[in-house]
Parts: sequence; structure tokens; C-alpha cells
Amino acid sequence: MTLLDIRDLEVTYRSARGDVPAVRGVNLRLRPGETLGIAGESGCGKSTLALALLRLLPASASVRGEIRLDGEEVLGMSWGRLRAVRWAGTSIVFQGAMHALNPVHRIGRQIAEPILLHEKVSEAGARQRAEELLSQVGLPGWRARSYPHELSGGQRQRVMIAMALACSPRLIVADEATTALDVMIQAQVLDLIAGLVAERDIGLLMISHDLSVLSSTCARLAVMYAGRVVEEGPAHQVFADPRHPYSRALASAFPTIGDPATRGQPRGLGGDPPDPTALPSGCAFHPRCPVVLPECSSTQVDLVPAGPERVAACVRVDTAARSTP
Ligand SMILES: Nc1ncnc2c1ncn2[C@@H]1O[C@H](COP(=O)(O)OP(=O)(O)OP(=O)(O)O)[C@@H](O)[C@H]1O
Ligand SMILES: [Mg+2]
Repeated sequence: MTLLDIRDLEVTYRSARGDVPAVRGVNLRLRPGETLGIAGESGCGKSTLALALLRLLPASASVRGEIRLDGEEVLGMSWGRLRAVRWAGTSIVFQGAMHALNPVHRIGRQIAEPILLHEKVSEAGARQRAEELLSQVGLPGWRARSYPHELSGGQRQRVMIAMALACSPRLIVADEATTALDVMIQAQVLDLIAGLVAERDIGLLMISHDLSVLSSTCARLAVMYAGRVVEEGPAHQVFADPRHPYSRALASAFPTIGDPATRGQPRGLGGDPPDPTALPSGCAFHPRCPVVLPECSSTQVDLVPAGPERVAACVRVDTAARSTP
């Protein structure tokens, strides 16, 4: 059974500057227990994709395509059903989510709240569960009585993960969940997520601009550029032997882990990601591509096989990523 099935997903924001096509025809699949990383530079549509999964996009966004969670179509779900799925089926740990903790409530109460709301347990039972969750993320039970400001950044991030696990989700979407953390804590939190996911057969969709983080945590990797998936395959292969010139640029010049200064643009790759309101013709990457061919400015290439269980969207799929520019 497929846990998450995204087909031909398109998301366009209507804005004063005109239409912003943020996600342009994305197809992705995830089975229970599978881990998929989504990489790409700032603005390539990663968070838009994550938000679309639970219909959390603003009203200005129009969404087309299909999103199935456990076989159920999300885009056509009733609000009641959607609310239930948001709590129990899928948890999203958002970009900068550790700032979302309520400063005036103890963290135990904040973890217990969704459990009380959505499961038939007593208050004492929910508090007990909160303490268990804290210990699963490596925090002592007494931390339940702490306020968010009494915790370090890494500890707060672990509380966010405990909250994401509270209602035993089938799928966790982690959007830059560890980017703000220092290297040591980031490694610790990534290990924790990977361990919990394997132990509980949870599906994990992990979003990051950092290929190295994704390839150490996820079995598969999808690389996005300008709203499209340009390469997908086993993570270590995509990282070690990329087939799309964009993945190659990302892999050879990945930002330093935990260094916000290198977050915007991979070192070594010239130019900026395109403005979605004025996308280049043909392959959107062609103006920055080190191995561009004349036809790249007119032909948009779909994903084609690039090895066993691998696809890439490049006319030079066999040679482009390997030749030195
Ligand atoms: N509410 C909105 N209205 C208009 N445009 C938007 C809106 N939200 C996002 N966008 C645009 O959609 C594109 C994709 O944004 P998104 O947040 O999905 O990128 P991202 O890959 O998550 O980037 P980052 O790595 O910086 O988090 C960007 O060009 C962004 O400017
Ligand atoms: Mg984002």
C-alpha cells in the first residue's frame, strides 16, 4: 500500500506580481517505513509541496493534481476528515517550528493537549504519554514541567518531534527541521528521527536544502529545481553520482552543515534560481547549466530513466553529469 502518492501536483500562488507557479507537475510516492529526502535551493517549492499535503496553503494558492494519503484523496476531503488526518495521520515539523511552542505553558501540557483532544485518554494518561514521548526523544520526564525558555534550541526541537509523534502518525513531514541547530545537535536530532522512523514503520518526507543531511538520513532523494523534480533515486547514488547537472552542482558544493551563510546558494554554482514569475524557456536550469546544449533553451525534458530505480530530467542524462565543464 502506498502511504503517500502525489500525482501531477501543481501549485500556483496568485500574487500582485502575477501568477507564481511554485510547484509544476510533481510526482512522488512513499510507502510505510520509507524515507524520502527533498533537496533544492531556496524558493524551489519544497515548503509549498509540504503545505499542499495537508491543504495548509493560503487561499491565494490554487492546487491541481492528486494527493493520496493511505489511498484517500486529500484535495477532496471534508474539513472534518482533514482535521482528523492532520492530527492522527500526518505530522509536519515546520521550518522554524521550535519557535511555535507556547511560551506560557509547560511543555508537558503542550504535548498532552493533542492527545487529550483526539484520543480517549484521561488527563493523567495523557500526561503519562507526554513523559514517555519526552524520554523517546532523549529528554528526562521531569522536563515536562519546564517552560520552553528553559530549554536549549536542540531540546526545543526534540520537543517538537515529540509533539509530532504524539498521535502516532503514519507520515512525518520534516521541513528544515534541523537547519537552525548546531552541527552536533543536528546530527543527534537526525539520528533520533531516523531511529524512530525505522522503529515505528513511519514514512518520512524530509525537506532540506542540504544534500549531505538528506543523504545521511533518507534512503531516497528527490532534487527539485524551479518547482519540478529534476532527479530522483537512491540517496547515496544521487549524492555520490548525480545524473542531472543541477544535482551535481548541489552535491559537489553542498552548503556547510549548520552554516546559515551558505544556505541560499550552493558554492560553485553561478547565478540565482529563476524568478517563478519569469521562468526561462525550455529547461529552467539551462541559463546556469555548465553543460548546456542549444536545444536546452527550447526543450523541457521530462524525467527519464537514469539507471536502476533512478530518473533524471536532462537531455544528456548519460553524460551531462559526468563530463567536466
Ligand atoms: N504565499 C505566497 N504567495 C506568493 N508566492 C509565494 C507564497 N509562498 C511562497 N511563494 C513563492 O513560491 C516559491 C516557492 O516557495 P517555497 O516556500 O515553497 O520554497 P522553498 O523551496 O521552501 O524555499 P526555502 O528553502 O527558502 O524554504 C518561491 O518563489 C516563493 O517566493
Ligand atoms: Mg521552505
